[in-house]
Amino acid sequence: MGRWRLLRLLGPPWGHPVPKATVLHRRNASSFPLPRQPLPPLAQTMAQYLRSLEPLVSPEELEQTKQLVAEFVAPGGEGERLQARLQRRADRMDNWITDWWVQSAYLENRLPLAVHSNPAVVLPKQDFSDWKGQLRFAAKLIAGVLDFKAKIDHQTLLVEYSRGYPLCMDQYARIFGSCRLPGPKHDSIFLPPPGRRPPTYITVARNFQFFQLEVYNSDGTPLTVDQLHWQLQRIRAQSWKTDKEPLGVLTSDHRHTWGQAYTTLMRDKLNRESARAIQRSLFTVCLDAPVLKVSDARAASRLAAQMLHGGGSHSNSGNRWFDKTLQFIVGEDGSCGVLYEQAVAEGPPIATIIDHVLDYCKDPVPVRAPLIPLPLPKKLYFCFTPEIKRDIEHAKQYLDILITDLDINCFTYLEFGKDLLKRHKLSPDSVLQVALQLAYYRTHGELGATTESASLRRFHRGRTETIRSATSAALAFVKAMADNSCQAPERLSLLKEAVEVHSTLTEQALNGLGIDRHLLGLKLEAIADGLRVPEVFMDTSYAVGSYWKLSTGQVAARTDCVMCYGPLVPDGYAVCYNPLPSHINFAVTAFNCCQETDAEQLARSLQKALDDVGALLGNVGCATNQEEEEEGS
Ligand code: COA
Repeated sequence: MGRWRLLRLLGPPWGHPVPKATVLHRRNASSFPLPRQPLPPLAQTMAQYLRSLEPLVSPEELEQTKQLVAEFVAPGGEGERLQARLQRRADRMDNWITDWWVQSAYLENRLPLAVHSNPAVVLPKQDFSDWKGQLRFAAKLIAGVLDFKAKIDHQTLLVEYSRGYPLCMDQYARIFGSCRLPGPKHDSIFLPPPGRRPPTYITVARNFQFFQLEVYNSDGTPLTVDQLHWQLQRIRAQSWKTDKEPLGVLTSDHRHTWGQAYTTLMRDKLNRESARAIQRSLFTVCLDAPVLKVSDARAASRLAAQMLHGGGSHSNSGNRWFDKTLQFIVGEDGSCGVLYEQAVAEGPPIATIIDHVLDYCKDPVPVRAPLIPLPLPKKLYFCFTPEIKRDIEHAKQYLDILITDLDINCFTYLEFGKDLLKRHKLSPDSVLQVALQLAYYRTHGELGATTESASLRRFHRGRTETIRSATSAALAFVKAMADNSCQAPERLSLLKEAVEVHSTLTEQALNGLGIDRHLLGLKLEAIADGLRVPEVFMDTSYAVGSYWKLSTGQVAARTDCVMCYGPLVPDGYAVCYNPLPSHINFAVTAFNCCQETDAEQLARSLQKALDDVGALLGNVGCATNQEEEEEGS
C-alpha cells in the first residue's frame, strides 16, 4: 500500500506534518498511535536501486545488473512473488522489517561489539580534575538519568517531533534494564519481563570490579544526589585494589568466542548470579581510572577512544560490560561519555537522554535525603577458574589488537554551523553529506558506497533506513571541483543540485520509501521461504553498492558532544557528526591495518571540503559568525 493511501486511511493528523508550535507536543509518549511502515512498490525500489549504482559501478556491470533487475521485476517473476509475500507479512505484522533488521544488522552479526558495533558519545569535559569531583559528578549524573527514567515510568515523556512528524517513542521503554546476551549462532536481547517489578538498582564498575547499587529508597523515591555520592564513596572504598582480572573484556570479544566463554562462565552459580545482576541492572556507571595525558591536539581523539573501547586491557576496558544497553563513563579528569549497545535503540534517543541528564547536572533538583541508613552496595563476585582466566587472556589480546588497529580523529569545524546553511535555504545534513563525498573523492579518486542512517520513527516501531549518499549528482559536483576550467557559478549550481538530490533521498527514506530495507526484506523473504536467493542479490553491483566504504550518521544533540563508532568494512571509514548552530563536531574512524585509509587525512580533506563549500556559498562562514557575535554583544 502506498504511503499516501495509508496515511489517508489513518486520517489526520498523520496525513500532514504537524507545525512545530502545535500543542500536540504536550501529548505523552504512551498515548500516541503511529502509522504502520509502508512497503514501497517493487518497481520504484528497483529503479532507485539502479540509479544508486550509477556512480559506483562500471557501465558494463550496470548493464548486466539492469538485465537482472528487468528479469526480477518482470510480470509473474521472482520479484512479484516475493513482493506479494512481503505484502502479506506487512499486513499481518505491526512492522514488516524491524525484527528482521534487528536480527540481521545486530543479533546475527558476529563481530565484536567493541569498536565494530557499539557507538560512544563523547560529552563535553566537566569541571573537575580528581576522584572527588568524579564521584560528585557521577552522583548528579545518576540522579539525572533517574529523573529521565521517571518520565518514562510515569508516562510523562513528551512525544518527539522531526520535520513536523511525531516519532515512535517505543525505544525508550527498552533502554533501561536491558542487555544483549551472547549466543553460539546469534545473540538475543534480555528485556525486563512485562508485569514483573522492574529492577531498582544500577551497576557501578571501578577497577574492573562490579557493584550492585540500589538507587531507590524503600518508599520508592530515587536516592538523592547526596545519598548517591555517599554510596559511590563506599564503592570506591571497596574497590581500591587494582589487581583484579578485567572480566568485562570478555564482552568485547568476537560474539562466537564470547558466546562460548559465556557458557563456561555461567556454569558456576556465583558467576551466574553476578552476570545476571549486571544484565538486569537499569544501567551501568563506569568510574574510570586516570589515563595518560596526551597533547591538546590529540585530546579529543583520545577521549573518544576511552569512551569507545576503554583504552585497552591495561587501561579501562575492564570497566565495561559491552553487552549492556546503556553505560555512562566518568573519568577523574573531567572526561565523561556514554557507550551503548544499539540492538534496542539508536543514537537519537540516547542523545535526548544525554541532553536531559547534562541539563540536570548543571542544576540538580535539591532534595533533602531521608535520615535512613542505606544498605552497603553489593559487590558482585566472580569465580575465576583457569578456563575463565584463559578466556580473559584471549579477550585481552584480541581487544588490544583491535584497539591498536583503530584510528580515531575527532575535530570541530568552526567556520560555520547549521545556521549558515539554513540561511542559504539548504538542508545542513545534505550539505555535510555532499561535502563528505568531496572529501572522500579527493582522498581516493572515486566515490565509495555510502550509508547514512535516516530514522524510520515516523512509523510504529520504526528503526532506520539507509540514505545512499554517493549519487550521480554528487559525482558531477566533485568532478567539477577537480576541474580547473569549471567556474564557481557552475560549481555552485552543481553543489545545489547534489544537495537537492540528497534531500529528496532523505525525504524518501524518512517516509519509509528508501530502498535498502526493502531489498533486505525481499532477500530474507526468499531465504525464509526456502527459495533460492535471486540473482539480483548475487551480482557484483549488489556487493559493491552495499560495501559501505563510508558509514555515516548524524546524531544531533543540543549538548556540544559527538558520537563515534568504527567503520563497517576493513577498508572504510565511519564519520559521525553533530551539527550545532555555529560549529560542527565530527568523529572520523578508520583501521590502521588498511594502507589506503587514514582517518586524519580524511578529516583534513573534510575540513578543506567544508571550506570550499563555504567559499562557494559566498565565503561568508567566518564573517557571519563574527556578525552574529557582534549582534549578540
Ligand atoms: N532551508 C532552510 N532550512 C532547512 C532546509 C532548507 N532547505 N532544510 C532543512 N532545514 C533546517 C531544518 O528545518 C532543521 O531546522 P532546525 O535546526 O530548526 O530543526 C535543520 O535545517 C536541520 O535539518 P537537516 O539538516 O535537513 O536534517 P535533519 O535535522 O532533519 O536530519 C536526518 C536529517 C536524516 C539525519 C534525520 O532526519 C534523522 O533521521 N536522524 C536520525 C539519524 C539516526 O538515526 N542516526 C543514528 C546513527 S547511530
